[in-house]
Amino acid sequence: MAERAAPVGVMDSGVGGLSVLREIRHLLPQESLLYVADCGHVPYGEKSADYIRERCRHIAGFFREQGAKAMVLACNTATVAAVADLRGLYPDWPLVGMEPAVKPAAAATRSGVVGVLATTGTLQSAKFAALLDRFAGDVRVVTQPCPGLVECIESGDLHSPHLRRLLAGFVEPLLAAGCDTLILGCTHYPFLRPLLATWVPSEIAIIDTGAAVARQLQRLLRERELLASGPAREPAFWTSAEPQALGAVLPLLWGGSGSVQHLRP
Ligand code: DGL
Repeated sequence: MAERAAPVGVMDSGVGGLSVLREIRHLLPQESLLYVADCGHVPYGEKSADYIRERCRHIAGFFREQGAKAMVLACNTATVAAVADLRGLYPDWPLVGMEPAVKPAAAATRSGVVGVLATTGTLQSAKFAALLDRFAGDVRVVTQPCPGLVECIESGDLHSPHLRRLLAGFVEPLLAAGCDTLILGCTHYPFLRPLLATWVPSEIAIIDTGAAVARQLQRLLRERELLASGPAREPAFWTSAEPQALGAVLPLLWGGSGSVQHLRP
């Protein structure tokens, strides 16, 4: 029986899930948080679903050893590949996944055209096709895979001329197609909001699901009477690559330093 004071495990292929971790900390400051960045295997976006499922099984097993009362797959690509598998393995463990914000975008658009920026893995998945069938309705959804963005963000590059050119190459065609709403369908991309704001017109809505995922975690914990009453322990970070590399970008992407340990293979 999990305890209220037990931690919540949050994972991503790398640093992207920190954008979700920030929302969880904001909504649920009393929760103790564990974060695994699978930086030794990033990016997930171009890898097979089987490969990603194995990584997620490994990390879920690690969180369970740490006594985590719940897990957040803070990665759209990992969710399409592995959430059903993990739910089958651990049917009673609260597990929150992510999906691109098609439903709110379809409700918000006035032009009737919505753009989705995400990884190839997410956009090619049956789960994404089902999401469109269910929520897109009459709205035209233009999809854009973005290879290369994740690597820049992993290295702490949020502003370079190279990144700006790469991003413009992905976003300009969506604007030209008439999109008035852009979905950030990868948890790395919210870190690009400041760069996007320097040239994307302010009337274009840019949405992601980090805050919604934090609310879903809150709902699941409340239903099971597992909400912590605090105080939270300091968040603990693990990476499957060099701890120094994650430690170096934490102040920029997390807003503080933290102890980073190496995740056993
Ligand atoms: N941050 C991840 C997502 O939300 C995946 C990025 C990657 O590793 O390709 O899809």
